[in-house]
Amino acid sequence: MRRLQIQLARDARTSEINIGDGLRRELGSYIRNDERLKPRRVGVISNRRVFALYGRDVMRSLKAAKFSAVEWLMPEGERYKSLRSLERLLTFLAEKSFERSDVVVALGGGVVGDLAGFSAAVYLRGIPLIQLPTSLLAQIDSSVGGKTAVNLPTGKNLVGAFHQPANVLIDVGTLNSLPQRELVAGFCEMTKQALIGSQSLFEQTVAYLRKSPFGARLRATDELEALIAAHCEFKASIVAGDERESTDRLDRSSRKVLNFGHTTAHALEAVTNYRVFRHGEAVGYGLLVAGEISRSLGLLQQEELVALREAVQLCGPLPTAGQLNLNRILRAVKHDKKSLGGEINWVLLEGIGRPKIVSGREINESLLRQSLQTVLKAPTRK
Ligand code: NAD
Ligand code: GLY
Repeated sequence: MRRLQIQLARDARTSEINIGDGLRRELGSYIRNDERLKPRRVGVISNRRVFALYGRDVMRSLKAAKFSAVEWLMPEGERYKSLRSLERLLTFLAEKSFERSDVVVALGGGVVGDLAGFSAAVYLRGIPLIQLPTSLLAQIDSSVGGKTAVNLPTGKNLVGAFHQPANVLIDVGTLNSLPQRELVAGFCEMTKQALIGSQSLFEQTVAYLRKSPFGARLRATDELEALIAAHCEFKASIVAGDERESTDRLDRSSRKVLNFGHTTAHALEAVTNYRVFRHGEAVGYGLLVAGEISRSLGLLQQEELVALREAVQLCGPLPTAGQLNLNRILRAVKHDKKSLGGEINWVLLEGIGRPKIVSGREINESLLRQSLQTVLKAPTRK
């Protein structure tokens, strides 16, 4: 028997994250100045709404830097994050004769980012990707960490690949045009990261939320830039330690902790056929349920639960959930696709900034039912 070891050049996969106001206008020079990238063509993948807002700036900057730039626009919506869209996008890249050294840019929210990212992962077995995220969720979460995917009719994100972007260009100026519900959803995901991140990330996030009244547009301030940078730093630290979300890791630094709030969120989305909640809104409820369970198991102090509830409240109104059937939600929780060996692992909290992965066997049905009931039937969420 012979055994060979392959040493991969780690630095070939280094990602950079740049955060600032107006970076979309500098895309061309970022690519030109990046020694790892030598494209002739740059494909900008976006949707009609986002491209109408920011496409002109992006294409101008690419042309000013002397790249041949082409755009491919998808319709808006999660249902277009599909194998059919992927095939269309790959066909477009092939018809435009994209080569291994050419670059794909994802300009949009997480839907565009996941589809464009997956196309870059598989086209010619992988070409360079730049993420230019424009939703809050995409800026603090989905553009960082290299997960890419499309949905199947049987479930979300079931086909995908890990493909790290060469660069993530976060233009906080694009958040100004984000619709209110998308902001609420992004704030909920931000609160998730803050709760599992650290006491200081939590305080920084809550301080920002307190100053951001519901209904106000996001302005590209230094404070917002610093907050987004702190969130990206936290997410990148988790990804650096467990890039592929190892199935056998259950420690508090494993990538699985990023699923905090997601067990309930996936169930709420599934029982409503993905029609009632933005994903982040469902995560808002998920944080509250995980908080209740953590408190009931004696992991979380009462004042920490109160702080968690306040943070979720500050994110903005969530769609009412009191009308949903608890039995259906309970069944959906048991079928969460993140289960392993048929078992659900819950991410709970044993303090702010201290996530703990707990086997579903330790959470009996009556505790789960009680926690769901407390959170979903609360009259104050809207
Ligand atoms: P989205 O991409 O659907 O964007 C939300 C809406 O906002 C869309 O209508 C979009 O057109 C619009 N929009 C985006 N930027 C805008 C702007 N600046 N101005 C005006 N409108 C704008 O949703 P999302 O919340 O950004 O992302 C959700 C997706 O991300 C899901 O598919 C989810 O599975 C995926 N996701 C991926 C990861 C990952 O690690 N890859 C992590 C979390 C979520
Ligand atoms: N959003 C979860 C992850 O990137 O792992």
